[in-house]
Amino acid sequence: MLEFFKGKKIGVLYGGRSSEREVSIRSGKAVSLALRNRGYDVIEIDVGDDFLSKLDDFDVAFVILHGKEGEDGTIQGILSFTEKPFTGPGVLGASLGMNKLVSKKILEYHGVKTPRYRVYRREGYLLPGENNLPEDHFPVVVKPVSEGSTVGVSIVRERSELEEALDIAFRYDNEVLVEEYIEGREITVGVLKETVLPIIEIIPKSGFYDYRSKYTKGLTEYIVPANLPVEVEKTAKEWALIAHKALYQRGVSRSDFRIDKNNTLYFLEVNSIPGMTETSLLPKAAGAVGLSFEDVVEMILSCVI
Ligand SMILES: Nc1ncnc2c1ncn2[C@@H]1O[C@H](COP(=O)(O)OP(=O)(O)O)[C@@H](O)[C@H]1O
Ligand SMILES: [Mg+2]
Repeated sequence: MLEFFKGKKIGVLYGGRSSEREVSIRSGKAVSLALRNRGYDVIEIDVGDDFLSKLDDFDVAFVILHGKEGEDGTIQGILSFTEKPFTGPGVLGASLGMNKLVSKKILEYHGVKTPRYRVYRREGYLLPGENNLPEDHFPVVVKPVSEGSTVGVSIVRERSELEEALDIAFRYDNEVLVEEYIEGREITVGVLKETVLPIIEIIPKSGFYDYRSKYTKGLTEYIVPANLPVEVEKTAKEWALIAHKALYQRGVSRSDFRIDKNNTLYFLEVNSIPGMTETSLLPKAAGAVGLSFEDVVEMILSCVI
């Protein structure tokens, strides 16, 4: 147990009101158990409508919320106002990391390649530079700008399917991203305290890494460390670190990438508060360098000091 936390109550904040609530509960329970095993005084807090009345129940927050409110700067704003230390990104890092469109723009600025795209907004406007994908290009991926766990995401193979995919994505957000579909492989790269972890290759049996493939045991094969061409591996690690820094992540982050048949790498998105169940990707990557689940949890916690 780290000295700083002696006599302090750690509030593990999980659940929340986003579409990723169930995943967050699983992560939160696993984190709470790990902290207790290491001797920390833990209170589990399911973040709901009454969260503001629970602010006095803890001294330090371990934030393991995913999606809207928990990972987008909302909870981070409340916690900043209380001046209590908390894990993960601050307001800026959380809101940048949650927004796939702003993330793309910032990373493109830093030389990181991302899939060509165009934006659809309820208000209808398009800013200069927001459309470098021809209207007749298919397949495309349609996704809400600010969601997670593949919620609201569709792969669209032909024009006739586009309208419905947009309708689905608009259920979750006022802004929708249409990206060229990158045929090929998928990898994810974790950063833990400025160290880039071994890369994981993700092979969903269905061919699409959707909600079910993410959270149902046996539906996806994970290879760690991924067997990649040296150049691709080097670039992916560099870009994950650029994403971590340019998007103001703190302690930990996990970036998702696609690799096409020519071994061209494309950044998809960063996860500011990656899943932390025993079988989640970040602990899996950390395990490949000999870190236990409890080690990872304690390392994330140590970043608040
Ligand atoms: N441009 C793309 N090309 C191919 N597959 C994509 C693309 N964008 C997303 N996907 C697929 O959809 C999944 C979810 O998309 P992602 O951008 O990672 O959002 P999130 O994980 O936050 O829902 C990815 O893991 C990937 O399998
Ligand atoms: Mg993702």
